[in-house]
Amino acid sequence: MLYNSILETIGKTPVIKLQKVIEQFLESSKIAIYVKNETFNPGGSHKTRIAFNMIKDAEKKGILKPNAGQTILEPTGGNTGLGIAIAGAVLGYKVILIIPDNYSPQKQNLLKALGAKIILSDSKKGGNSHGELALEILFDNPNYVMLNQSSNPANPEIHRLTTAQEILADFSDKSIDYFVGGIGTGGHITGIGEILKKENPNIQIIGVQPNGCEIFKNQFIPHKIQGLAVGIIPDVLNINIINKMISVTFEESRQMMKYLIRQEGLLVGLSSGANLAAALKIVHELNQNQPLNKEVNILTMAYDSAIDYLELLD
Ligand SMILES: Cc1ncc(COP(=O)(O)O)c(C=O)c1O
Repeated sequence: MLYNSILETIGKTPVIKLQKVIEQFLESSKIAIYVKNETFNPGGSHKTRIAFNMIKDAEKKGILKPNAGQTILEPTGGNTGLGIAIAGAVLGYKVILIIPDNYSPQKQNLLKALGAKIILSDSKKGGNSHGELALEILFDNPNYVMLNQSSNPANPEIHRLTTAQEILADFSDKSIDYFVGGIGTGGHITGIGEILKKENPNIQIIGVQPNGCEIFKNQFIPHKIQGLAVGIIPDVLNINIINKMISVTFEESRQMMKYLIRQEGLLVGLSSGANLAAALKIVHELNQNQPLNKEVNILTMAYDSAIDYLELLD
């Protein structure tokens, strides 16, 4: 396969049907769980899709011009940063990323390798410490361009245009009864959820949040599931398409991440484990309403690579 640049290889990620989950957790063989594995993207996560789309969108609007020496500034947990740093390297932008100081050091090293400058924010100041510090830096440097993933419509838009369309194509002969997605910026659950719901109004769109956070009530507590519940209700999140939120603990997420790695061979991270933990709670509810008279397909996402979470394995 021949491509003109790494940016052309974003998307078209595989969907994997979980195998052992049936005998271990599902009880009913009528239920299947599928995982769309976004770690296959360059940069290793779904956020490369939005990073490149936000840059393309800013170029279309004349805000960014390739190779003109402009600086992109963005608060990120690391994954959007990787996408921006890759696109920045290819398209000729300087990149400054503000990252909470409790996020993955491996990702920070990768970002530095791509030529990005890293500034750490004090995570003790709250879940959105990086967002707040980025605004302060932008105030002093008004020529920097902040793409602002939490409120940039180009974030959910790329999921409507690509991720959701890939899903529809892959499930053209199967129903999707539940879509389960974590909420950070809300970009992918909004973009995918809107399109899937348009196609099938009966689908249940389920949001995942760390135990103790209530995103819809604007209630956030410190937690260790990187990427989820980032301390604000993001502007791009379309709350109306979400049927239900499911809360998961760190330990449930860790166990399911371990399961995905050790038994399914998917080298994925903690928020991917959180999604599977939530999917299994749906299965548990379904099993209480036995017997199921039809097949039930649950689709969820794996977001980023296990490499940043290896210390959580035992
Ligand atoms: C590891 C991880 N999981 C989940 C998410 C949530 O994705 P979204 O921002 O589309 O809500 C993110 C977002 O940064 C992430 O980095």
